[in-house]
Amino acid sequence: MNPAGKTIAIVTGANRGIGFETCRQLSQLGFLTILTSRDENKGKAAVELLLQEGGDLIYHQLNVTDLDSISRLVSYIEENFQCCDILVNNAGVFIDRGRSVLDVPLDVLQETLETNFLGALNMCRAFIPFMRKHQYGRVVNVSSGMGSIASMGGSSAAYKLSKLVMNGMTRIMADEIKDTNIKVNTMAPGWVRTDMGGPSAPRSLAQGADTIIWLATLPDDGPTGGFFEDRKPIAW
Ligand SMILES: NC(=O)c1ccc[n+]([C@@H]2O[C@H](COP(=O)([O-])OP(=O)(O)OC[C@H]3O[C@@H](n4cnc5c(N)ncnc54)[C@H](OP(=O)(O)O)[C@@H]3O)[C@@H](O)[C@H]2O)c1
Repeated sequence: MNPAGKTIAIVTGANRGIGFETCRQLSQLGFLTILTSRDENKGKAAVELLLQEGGDLIYHQLNVTDLDSISRLVSYIEENFQCCDILVNNAGVFIDRGRSVLDVPLDVLQETLETNFLGALNMCRAFIPFMRKHQYGRVVNVSSGMGSIASMGGSSAAYKLSKLVMNGMTRIMADEIKDTNIKVNTMAPGWVRTDMGGPSAPRSLAQGADTIIWLATLPDDGPTGGFFEDRKPIAW
């Protein structure tokens, strides 16, 4: 809770897809939801759409690969709320579909790791200090079943490795702050109908966001350092 008595939730990469749906559901739950996107026009249009449904939403620009952009969001939160209760690290790219680990271009590998892994890490570094101050926080890292080493096969190495490392980061971070009331978990939304998932995916946006919302609203005795799909632990 911030001084104004609101629970503050930040969602990255929320102008479309699973991030957008996550904002819809968090705001419908009564949380003051900061919908962020790297493209300001797209993000503002997304907020306008959701405001028509009711709910409490604010737009702020955020490119997770740009430290200055993250700093501007930190300053905005510091000046207005001094608080961040929920962080959903959703922003992601999948730009090496089907490529072999032996020839995926290094710039593709780099962009994927910078967005999917380092972006989430830098957001945690920026916002977990707010959570520590208020002794409350829920971090949800939106990973993928493709990041599970238990079922990992060939191809799409950049994407798979980025999610694998995100999962490792989740374990390390959760252990380091296990004595606090900050829960850090990672999850797989399943195959969801979005620009990334494509039109043949079996899951709706609501199904994809369900476990995110569950993890974002865990009670104080809820799990931390876990990897979940459909609200259940899955193999690393
Ligand atoms: N859909 C699936 O089946 C599926 C399955 C497993 C996991 N996931 C994961 O779920 C998350 C959301 O995926 P989605 O299906 O909703 O994908 P999506 O429709 O492609 O949306 C991805 C979002 O991430 C944003 N983004 C990319 N790079 C960014 C950056 N540097 N800074 C800020 N935002 C950035 C995009 O912004 P722009 O509009 O500006 O590009 C977009 O808003 C991803 O992490 C993805 O890996 C999805």
